[in-house]
Amino acid sequence: VKASATTALHLLATERRRSGLPVLDLSVGQPILDSSGLGFEAILSESQNYLYSAVPGLATLRESLQSKFQCTSLPLITAGAKASIYLALRSLLEPGDEVLYMTPYWSGYPGMVEACYGKSVQLSSSDQHEPEPDKWQEQISKKAKVLLLNSANNPTGKVYSRDQIKRVVEFCERNGLTLISDEVYLDLSYEKEAWSALEFLDDYSDIVVANSVSKSLALPGLRTGWAISNSNLIEEMSGLQSQLYTCAPTLCQRMVESLLENGWGDRQQEVRNKLRLRRDLVMEKFKSAGFKELELPESALYFYLSAATQDSSLWGTKLLEKTGVVTVPSRSFGEEGKVRISFGLEESELALAIDKLIEFTLSEKV
Ligand SMILES: Cc1ncc(COP(=O)(O)O)c(C=O)c1O
Repeated sequence: VKASATTALHLLATERRRSGLPVLDLSVGQPILDSSGLGFEAILSESQNYLYSAVPGLATLRESLQSKFQCTSLPLITAGAKASIYLALRSLLEPGDEVLYMTPYWSGYPGMVEACYGKSVQLSSSDQHEPEPDKWQEQISKKAKVLLLNSANNPTGKVYSRDQIKRVVEFCERNGLTLISDEVYLDLSYEKEAWSALEFLDDYSDIVVANSVSKSLALPGLRTGWAISNSNLIEEMSGLQSQLYTCAPTLCQRMVESLLENGWGDRQQEVRNKLRLRRDLVMEKFKSAGFKELELPESALYFYLSAATQDSSLWGTKLLEKTGVVTVPSRSFGEEGKVRISFGLEESELALAIDKLIEFTLSEKV
């Protein structure tokens, strides 16, 4: 399996840090927020939390999530949404089966599909980066098996409408595809209502919804997520999980459970408010610098901008060498000429990094 295209930049950034040079990391896909007030201390002192849980997760946590999402079968607790997607792909695919997803795509998908012996097929998206299922029929073959949908979207920050998601579900139904809906950014929608594919669970059983506490609760290090699907697929995914890492960390599952009991909504609100503030701070800086054709991200934690050159990796390397600012070139998302900037950093560091990026961009234009 090929390593991600961001590896070279990451290596360069690590070398800079080791030699004492400043590094401002706008590549990180994680909201950085204080977690000390979440009341996890008691959980650390309970010795049963240092034992394995049941393979599919703590029964009480599974039940709480089932009632939160009102789904018919118990969710599988996994080590993050990434694990949910991998377990689903590995359970669903025969070697050579096609997995469809729109370009630009989250950089994790190609490697996961490859690791599951599948073949990636990139679907077109509209100029506004939205799904256009009416055009997809001619882009797929008989080998198509799974469609991966990511709303709200990384890297574009788009939130698809209810109708757009419904039309994607219908496309899957017409073509006998299983839909894997990656919803890690769903609760990070800043303006409009974001729709889960769970809306359609009653009509269509060939669906897996993947989510986690990584983004909307700003707890990526807990490595805890879940998958919602029909009980047969959940059982298969659970079997595979048992052979891989047994269960998600028990300690972390307990932390997630305690948040569900108390504080989940407040934490999500806090994360959303903080990130909206950071997004607006970056937007303000870009506008004042005269950047044009800017799109305000509707969700997630990224600006997806045009880079000054088609070769997005070269641009990123130059930016890093001159300023210490790390970004992600759009090559990682399946296209050229753009750059992804995370606004997950704490405000003062974020402001400094954006100032440097603006200065570099303006000097490159001269
Ligand atoms: C679209 C998308 N899906 C899944 C993940 C992985 O999430 P988790 O930390 O829950 O494994 C990420 C992380 O960056 C992501 O951007």
